Amino acid sequence: MQEPNPPAAIYDDTAVRQFALMSVVWGVVGMLVGVIIATELTWPEFSLGIPWLSYGRLRPLHTNAVIFAFGGCALMATSFHVVQRTCQVRLFAPALASFVFWGWQAVIVAAAISLPLGYTTGKEYAELEWPIDILIAVVWVAYAVVFFGTIGIRKVRHIYVANWFYGAFIIAVALLHIVNSAEIPAGWMKSYSAYAGVQDAMVQWWYGHNAVGFFLTAGFLGMMYYYIPKQAGRPVYSYRLSIVHFWALIFTYMWAGPHHLHYTALPDWTQSLGMVFSLILLAPSWGGMINGVMTLSGAWYKLRTDPILRFLIVALSFYGMSTFEGPMMSIKTVNALSHYTDWTVGHVHSGALGWVGFITMGSLYYLIPRMYGRTAMFSAKAIEAHFWMATIGIVLYIAAMWIAGVMQGLMWRAINPDGTLTYTFVESVKATFPFYVVRLAGGLLYLAGMLVMAWNVWMTVISGRSAQASIPAVAIAHA
Ligand code: HEM
Ligand code: HEM
Repeated sequence: MQEPNPPAAIYDDTAVRQFALMSVVWGVVGMLVGVIIATELTWPEFSLGIPWLSYGRLRPLHTNAVIFAFGGCALMATSFHVVQRTCQVRLFAPALASFVFWGWQAVIVAAAISLPLGYTTGKEYAELEWPIDILIAVVWVAYAVVFFGTIGIRKVRHIYVANWFYGAFIIAVALLHIVNSAEIPAGWMKSYSAYAGVQDAMVQWWYGHNAVGFFLTAGFLGMMYYYIPKQAGRPVYSYRLSIVHFWALIFTYMWAGPHHLHYTALPDWTQSLGMVFSLILLAPSWGGMINGVMTLSGAWYKLRTDPILRFLIVALSFYGMSTFEGPMMSIKTVNALSHYTDWTVGHVHSGALGWVGFITMGSLYYLIPRMYGRTAMFSAKAIEAHFWMATIGIVLYIAAMWIAGVMQGLMWRAINPDGTLTYTFVESVKATFPFYVVRLAGGLLYLAGMLVMAWNVWMTVISGRSAQASIPAVAIAHA
């Protein structure tokens, strides 16, 4: 990584600190809602018949909270941190960065109120109604101005690869959000999509898959390319590969959306195109994963003692796993078995808990102490405990979902010699029950790990504040 000279500027990290802390807070909230809906799937009476606690309303609250609040705040914190260090300049327009922070929190609060009240567009990951959509677009454009403005005034000629990934994430999400949210208002909190029928479905899953590709992947790869080399104290394994990785990944992702619509009214050739591009996607995904893992060449021994590095590297293992599984699930015949089952939910959470969760946690453990004038987190033992709780939690979650998913798929397609179905649907629901209990246990462990992190962050911040007073500002800025 090129950061040859100590930066002359003192960085502006107010928004970095704010976003980093809120990522932890929203992580706890979003995962708690995840645990609640996992309980409701196991014991439906848990909602007590209260409409705003019903599964249908809390599920989108969970997905929005973990993706856009937990993940979004982490992406904004780290992108503002990384872009300043790698461009060796202060953040462009700090007042606008503050607007981005408060605007994004307003979006999250609006989601947390409107979703339980039942306001939804019905489009997955794009459920928020049109007034909130407009606010998102405004905040996002402000975010782009701050990020690209900082790149524009950089003091280093080269644009470090992490910024390419963050930049692609910012541009692609703006495009996806604006196109997919085109809707005709029919009241203050009601709208109809501008598209109809199969076109609507195609636009939605072009959006949905690229939300995975750009929100849940490209931005987090930006984190990988900065925080893994930093924490490992090694340069990126192959800088050339990182550039190939970037262009191949962003070109390929855009075409894979139809794999969400196999065996639907979408023209067959479109489904096949989505499948082929999904299979091709394995190559850049694994190229990037290998580049990240190999950055540890010559420093593998650090994994034994450094729990932060372990978070970062295990994140890559899960990334590799879910980007192998995804292309397999996109093959039509495999999808005929996996679609509608809990296999998809297992795939989602190996990516979400393993990749997105771990890379975020590792990066925040690197970032937060440095933002509060400390060299390390308050408790290394707590990071270690968090790591094991989360790892065991993920394994329980995804193993339960894989077994349940394949079982459901097989039960639904089993046919007697006379052509009738072997199992009724409710028999498959009953057979799934034990796996839902195991998933809940895994989710509880993962949430407990997040609570340990929240405590550790809190202790770091309050003990850091007093330490900060005695450290010269310039020393903190160089962190
Ligand atoms: C304590 C941790 C978590 C628990 C217990 C949990 C639980 C759940 C449950 C029960 C569902 C509904 C599954 C269904 O429809 O059958 C779900 C869906 C989902 N969760 Fe989580 N979750 C957790 C963390 C996360 C995180 C950290 C992310 C993302 C970063 C995430 C992303 C998603 C997504 C995208 C879906 C929708 C999946 C689909 O439509 O197939 N979850 N989660
Ligand atoms: C090479 C990369 C990947 C490919 C080709 C891929 C492919 C797929 C396929 C085929 C499905 C099932 C569609 C269906 O039957 O409805 C799926 C679902 C999903 N995947 Fe992946 N996946 C990849 C990586 C990832 C990663 C890294 C994540 C998370 C960080 C992720 C998140 C999701 C989500 C959230 C869904 C559920 C969408 C929904 O129905 O709500 N995927 N993916």
